[in-house]
Amino acid sequence: MKQLRVLVIMHPDLIPPDSTEGYQEQQINEWKTEYDVVSTLRAAGHDVRPLGVHDELKPIRDEIEGWKPDVVFTLLEQFHGEVIYDQNVGSYLELMRVPYTGCNPRGLMLARGKDLSKTLVHYHRIPVPAFAVFPIGRKVRRPRRLGLPLIVKSVIEDGSWGISQASVVDTDEKLAERVAFIHERIGTAAIAEQYIEGREIYVGVLGNERLRVLPLWELRFANLAQGSWPIATEKVKHDTNYQERRGILHGPAEDLAPEVRARIRQMARRIYRTLELDGYARIDFRLSADGIPYFLEANPNPEIAESQEFATAARHDGIPYSDLLHRIVTLGIRRATGTVSGD
Ligand SMILES: Nc1ncnc2c1ncn2[C@@H]1O[C@H](COP(=O)(O)OP(=O)(O)O)[C@@H](O)[C@H]1O
Ligand SMILES: [Mg+2]
Repeated sequence: MKQLRVLVIMHPDLIPPDSTEGYQEQQINEWKTEYDVVSTLRAAGHDVRPLGVHDELKPIRDEIEGWKPDVVFTLLEQFHGEVIYDQNVGSYLELMRVPYTGCNPRGLMLARGKDLSKTLVHYHRIPVPAFAVFPIGRKVRRPRRLGLPLIVKSVIEDGSWGISQASVVDTDEKLAERVAFIHERIGTAAIAEQYIEGREIYVGVLGNERLRVLPLWELRFANLAQGSWPIATEKVKHDTNYQERRGILHGPAEDLAPEVRARIRQMARRIYRTLELDGYARIDFRLSADGIPYFLEANPNPEIAESQEFATAARHDGIPYSDLLHRIVTLGIRRATGTVSGD
């Protein structure tokens, strides 16, 4: 691949140092994705410039006009501190006609809402957990069709923000409490979903027109405290000590019937297309004990630190990390130029 000018946009606090030496593991974890992307692209010979973006578009514009990057690598997940503005940054890059990595703004919007995305996917006869949305200021009444237990989440936030053991509720009283928690502490509408007991399966998908589906990946909870729900809480996702203590591991999903495996892969493709995703995304499922895969959510632009699920699954499938980043960059450039690129 020829040498490229790559502008990597990210939160200003996450601009990585040149080396991880002298930092604690927890500190490194904060900017690991940014560090991995910047250092790997540099090691591959590209001219890489990290740019911190918080609440101004002008620095992006100045770089695009002054430095003329070949591609913008988007690691930015918010603007003005709002996660739902990530699609607007994508729109801005689109309007600037600069190639950028990851998902287009329409896909970001369709995948964002945990209610809208499920409604669209359900239309294609893919099983989704039954759910109800509770807007701020509305009284909480559980619809009859929804049995307990339920899991209560923000309808738009991600990264498991607001998700803890208390999110799974088995009484109407706890349901009302947890909905109030989401309204007050997270500040968004809440969604209560049927709690699906079962295995947690992730499927990475890479591509614009032609898609490459990565091996099914499983999040395992080997050593949970007695009575804990096996769910990906904030701690499970971000606390490395907790991960070690509780045996939180991810790896290839084993012992799946071939037809279940094929069905999940087919569903992942269909969901990717239904939600108009491109670039790269991770589609999450819960596989119930009776073998039914339920769609949980789609994550366009999932985290891609080298050790995380997406990149590990890619490596397992014969795509080393630097190749993965090149593919992501190429997909961004080809979308902008209208050329088809496959796996
Ligand atoms: N309907 C559900 N049934 C069982 N577990 C769920 C359900 N919804 C979410 N979870 C658990 O909570 C985690 C976070 O939920 P998710 O909807 O993916 O939110 P986020 O966008 O914050 O990642 C999931 O990875 C899963 O472990
Ligand atoms: Mg999730």
